[in-house]
This record gives sequence, structure tokens and C-alpha cells, in this order.
Amino acid sequence: MVIVGVVGSPRKNGRTNSLIDAVLEGAKSRGAEVKKVYLVDYELRQYKGLDGSAEAFTYCPEELSKLCDGAEAFAIGAPIYWGDINGMTKDFMDTVKIPITNGKPALGVTIAGGSGRGQVSGVQSLYTFFFHKQMRAIDPTPVSRFNMQDALDELKISGGRLVDLSKKKETFPGNTVNERLPVVQAYYTSLKYLNYDPLDECIMLDQQLIKVSEGKKEEEAKVELDKALELISKGNRSAAAEYAVKVYLMLYFTS
Ligand SMILES: Cc1cc2nc3c(=O)[nH]c(=O)nc-3n(C[C@H](O)[C@H](O)[C@H](O)COP(=O)(O)O)c2cc1C
Repeated sequence: MVIVGVVGSPRKNGRTNSLIDAVLEGAKSRGAEVKKVYLVDYELRQYKGLDGSAEAFTYCPEELSKLCDGAEAFAIGAPIYWGDINGMTKDFMDTVKIPITNGKPALGVTIAGGSGRGQVSGVQSLYTFFFHKQMRAIDPTPVSRFNMQDALDELKISGGRLVDLSKKKETFPGNTVNERLPVVQAYYTSLKYLNYDPLDECIMLDQQLIKVSEGKKEEEAKVELDKALELISKGNRSAAAEYAVKVYLMLYFTS
């Protein structure tokens, strides 16, 4: 059993690499053979053809497609650029020759290593790909500098879960893509973060920052966050957004 981890960042020693390492460590500890792939090592081509997805498949190096298609499960890690996954990861997803693979276990992790903004919108992009391929994706993992250590710990557990799922092979019921679609849609609706909007992401980022902050500022931020949460509970999301951003600006730091 081979579990493939795809590093979508051009920086081989960056945060994406560490996060994928954690997934693969978890998988290895459950007895799986693991293989790490750096997209930057391949001649990935952006799809500029005029036909459909079959032509797009020809743009991905065959060796890379074979590796991913042949894996029992795979994980993709992508850095966040301007609020979404980077172009190289998207080019890979556009062109990798993996047919609609009913139930292949998959996991996506994104790292918004600067402002922290975009970690959720990016993870949604990865899971949109998994959804369209009808994979059985688990544990969407949005990461910033502020929850990196927690994420590394959680990803080790997720890596083990990928192996467990590969052994069980939980396919979605139905013989065709459309027959399976209702169940697949229901499955993805239940996954965490996939229904988050930018306000939800900002609240999450606030909570990540509060966890790593201390002292007076943290207390003041909690008061403002409570105001945001109360406004959300009353359905006033626009007013809540202003408080949520205020918390972010109070606590955000660079290092
Ligand atoms: C073009 C570009 C745009 C970026 N945009 C964002 C962003 O929207 N949000 C964020 O938190 N970080 C942003 N970053 C920072 C990266 O997410 C950060 O450097 C991350 O650690 C990259 O992953 P890596 O360490 O695996 O290379 C951006 C970096 C680049 C190069």
C-alpha cells in the first residue's frame, strides 16, 4: 500500500513540506509505504488546450499521473497565495490523470503562512477537486502560522486515518458518476470548513490568534470577539464582520 503526499509549494523546505511530512509520518506509523512528491521537480504544464479534460490529462507528466493514480490514498499540501491555493497546485489538479475514482481516500492541507487569510478558501479549492473526482476526502486542514503546531499533531493522526480508510475501501454506492452524486454531495456537505464564508474564516483566525496571545490584549480581544459572535447569532453578519476584523488587527503579529 502506497500513500502519496504531494507538496505543492516551490519551496522544498517550507511549511507545506513539514505538513505533508506529518501526514506521511502518521501513515508510515500504520505500516504504509509512503512517497513524497514535489511538484516543482516535474515539468507541469498549464493547460492551454482547446479540448476537454482528456486533452488536459496529456499535459501532466505521465510518471506523476501514474504515481498519484496508483496510490491507495493521497494527500495534497498547498501554500496560499492571495487567498487561494497557488497556481502550480491548481495546474497539477487540472491535468493529473486520475479518472473519477470512487472513494479513493484523500486529504488536503493549506498553509496561509503570512496573514493567515485564505487558509479556508484554499482548503475549499482542494476539496472541490476531491469532490469532483468522487474521492473519499477526510479532515480538511486549514493552517496558519498561528496553529501550525496543532496542525502538525493532528495531521499525524489524519495520516493514520488515511491508511485505515485505504484498508476498508469505502466506496460510494452507485454504478455511474451521476448515480453516486447525491451521496457524494451529501458526504461533502458534512465536511468541516467547506461551508465557511470569509467571516467564518476570520472568526477562526481570531480564535487561532487568541490561543497564541497572552495578557491584556487577549482579554480585550475576547470581549470584541464575543460581540461579533452575538451579532452572528442575531443574523447580523455584516456588523459582526467589523468586530471580527477588529480582533484580528488587535492580535495579528509578524514573526
Ligand atoms: C505570491 C504570494 C502570495 C501570498 N499570499 C498569502 C495570503 O494570501 N495569505 C497568507 O497568509 N500568506 C500568503 N503568502 C505567504 C505564504 O502562504 C507563506 O509563505 C507560506 O509559508 C508558503 O508555503 P511554503 O512555506 O510551503 O512555501 C503569500 C506568498 C506568496 C509568495
